[in-house]
Amino acid sequence: MNPLAQQLNTALEKGNAHVYAMLSGLGRKLYFPKEGILSQSAEAKAKATKFNATIGIATEGGAPMHLKAIQETLSAYEPKDLYEYAPPAGKPELRAAWREKMIKDNPSLASKPFGNPVATNALTHGLSIVADLFADAGDAVIIPDKNWENYELTFGIRRGAEIVEYPLYTAEGRFNADGLREALLAQRDKGKAIVILNFPNNPTGYTPGPDECREIVAALKAAADEGILVVAVTDDAYFGLFFEDSVHESLFGSLAGIHERILPVKVDGATKEEYVWGFRVGFITYASDSPEVLAALEQKTMGIIRATISSGPHPSQTFVLRALRSPDFEAQRAEKYAIMKGRANRVKQLLDSGRYDGDWTYYPFNSGYFMCLRLIGVGAEEVRQRLLDEYGVGTIALGETDLRVAFSCTEESSLEELFNLIHQAVRDLKTNGFQ
Ligand SMILES: Cc1ncc(COP(=O)(O)O)c(C=O)c1O
Repeated sequence: MNPLAQQLNTALEKGNAHVYAMLSGLGRKLYFPKEGILSQSAEAKAKATKFNATIGIATEGGAPMHLKAIQETLSAYEPKDLYEYAPPAGKPELRAAWREKMIKDNPSLASKPFGNPVATNALTHGLSIVADLFADAGDAVIIPDKNWENYELTFGIRRGAEIVEYPLYTAEGRFNADGLREALLAQRDKGKAIVILNFPNNPTGYTPGPDECREIVAALKAAADEGILVVAVTDDAYFGLFFEDSVHESLFGSLAGIHERILPVKVDGATKEEYVWGFRVGFITYASDSPEVLAALEQKTMGIIRATISSGPHPSQTFVLRALRSPDFEAQRAEKYAIMKGRANRVKQLLDSGRYDGDWTYYPFNSGYFMCLRLIGVGAEEVRQRLLDEYGVGTIALGETDLRVAFSCTEESSLEELFNLIHQAVRDLKTNGFQ
């Protein structure tokens, strides 16, 4: 074991031995090189006032060397904020601004012990860091039966974890906290579980209400009380897009500091919230009462970043930072939120109009980008294909009966036509048996 990894492990064991026990084999071995190129360069950046001949970038006239063909389209930005490598943990100002935003958006976090967000190459990367640090072959990753398909690749295929599903909803259409509790308690023998809590949910657009959230927290606590180590990951990809009376905060706040055997990990980012899907700016943040634990996890996270992508994209970190600092940021965000909420409301109005009764029901939704139809008497894949071939409409078929519809990318004025066409495709298949 590298001595730096050993030091981090000792700090973790001292700060919270349960968190140390949650680490994967890889997680235990990880460290961030203190005496390598990056740290020597950082030292030189602060002290080398005459010549800084350390890091592998090129400079000219005291600024990063660059091509006019690139800079002329980016002239609002200083070359130093675009071309230099961003630090592996992300631009410090961006990390601070994101932390501030987290507290503003989640007031209950203000009094909670949590670390500085580490910048990631967006949320998928944040999830893969969780997988690398905490998932070994055979470890249980608990997700609802309606989930984002990429968890399978990130945790299952890549790390060999066992995906354990529970039904997302009860028969009454509430969040199925008992199902989550059962899935968790079934991991007694393994002694460890990674739980992914993704609200607003992809694909259903569901976020639980305050009572359901209390039940979720109680389920995790019950497992921890039974001795199960719980890595509680909130995938807050669609955070902020809460259109009704669900909770409007991340569960990360309710989980922070509640149990020594629960490690809350928040995976979030600008991707969906700030409508910058291709920028690849996200964050991973840990909560712990122990500053040693927070520091060691940050170092291990930087270690896996250094080992995989070295550092995230600097230009997009700069763009997001500038947006967060803009006096117009909140107003512009509110404007887009209103558009998305208008679409969600319109979808509900259409679905509740009665005109589609008998051909589908829909899963409860109140947030996010999507909603999911539950088709009656016809297969989702058949409908998807008919929609594509006959009507030029793209949807996502999930399993036998479910069709995911993204209202995020359909104008409010077109939603009626969209749902009428989906309905037409269902009718075609039911009445004529078109295949
Ligand atoms: C639930 C969920 N988590 C994470 C992601 C990935 O986000 P990113 O594009 O930032 O990697 C998505 C994207 O579709 C998602 O739906």
